[in-house]
Amino acid sequence: MQKQRIYLDNGASTQLDRQVLQVMLPFWTETYGNSSSHHSFGRQAEQALEEARTTVAKLLGAAASEEIVFTGCGSESDNLAVRGAMWAARAHGKGNHLITSCIEHSAVGQTAVSLHTHHGFDLTILPVDHSGQVRPADLEAAIRPDTVLVSIMAANNEIGTLQPIDELGAIAHAYGALFHTDAVQAVAVQRWQLAQQPIDLLSVAPHKFYGPKGMGMLYVRQGVELQPELTGGSHENGLRAGTVNVPFAVGAAKALELAMADLPETVAHYQRLRDRLIEGVLTAVPDNAILTGHPTHRLPHNASFAFRHLSGNDLLMHLDMAGIAASSGSACKSGDPKPSAVLEALGLGREWTKGGLRLTVGRHNTMDEIEQVVATLPRLVAKLQKIHVMFA
Ligand SMILES: Cc1ncc(COP(=O)(O)O)c(C=O)c1O
Repeated sequence: MQKQRIYLDNGASTQLDRQVLQVMLPFWTETYGNSSSHHSFGRQAEQALEEARTTVAKLLGAAASEEIVFTGCGSESDNLAVRGAMWAARAHGKGNHLITSCIEHSAVGQTAVSLHTHHGFDLTILPVDHSGQVRPADLEAAIRPDTVLVSIMAANNEIGTLQPIDELGAIAHAYGALFHTDAVQAVAVQRWQLAQQPIDLLSVAPHKFYGPKGMGMLYVRQGVELQPELTGGSHENGLRAGTVNVPFAVGAAKALELAMADLPETVAHYQRLRDRLIEGVLTAVPDNAILTGHPTHRLPHNASFAFRHLSGNDLLMHLDMAGIAASSGSACKSGDPKPSAVLEALGLGREWTKGGLRLTVGRHNTMDEIEQVVATLPRLVAKLQKIHVMFA
């Protein structure tokens, strides 16, 4: 009999919702025209594309459907926002300074460093407090008349901390800077009223909420100028050349619609599972485990820990052998034996920073599964820590 597997890596990606699959299918086999073509096949595809755009815009509370740009992934949305804003400002002689935080996903963090190192943009990287939040006073102190863009993620992918983005965005606006937020982890677990929020650019990746992988979206407030990354045709309002992936756009809109329709129930389900995980693990491993990230201002589906004197990657391997899928940080970092830069940024010492574990619950997880994890995980931690003591 096949062993039951438990998937607790929904922060890395989620199972495609069957309702999403159903709405996508006809756009490969029946309505397959190019949405830019001037014939009935093209017009049908274009209509579906624009309906998807309108749905997303409404669900995010944007002022107009043209504010939604379809991209190829969350990373591309981040790149388009950050690079696009900085290059557009330089083209118009409007400033050279970029501010971000030290715990951004690499799609923002590496992009910012590359703009600084290779292209001479000034860069300020803000610290975070021990819970992973950027202090608004630090932003206030760092912002300058030539600051073009402030890019601070809505929620951290590793430790789940939510940032005070409305407060940070208001500071950016008070100084005439644009505000971008990478909302890849957060977009489907809270409500948005983008037209009323101090946010100019917001990145989305539908595979984090039961939509297709290889699709991203970027909200671009009307009037915000970006230089495109992909040049060629005038698709996506001139911001992203290339034939638009209509099936994925339709799927992304459906996924967001489903997420928003069940939001209170889903969040309550996530919180119940997450809180039991946190309580169960901290009770069973009282001295050698800590909860990382903010205790309350955190993603409802994220339970993240650091274990003392333990390699998160070894723990992942043992969990995998026990049928439990987790992550030691963002998916892209799994397998990397270096200490977690996010855990270091929280001020944790070296005895903790290699021992990060992220458990992210999803719609399909049950309390029974969580109880199995709570029963299994402490045993594995104890075993690995015993090995560490033997070889220390
Ligand atoms: C916060 C955050 N930003 C950006 C990304 C990149 O998204 P994608 O994998 O769709 O490029 C991720 C993916 O894990 C993420 O968690």
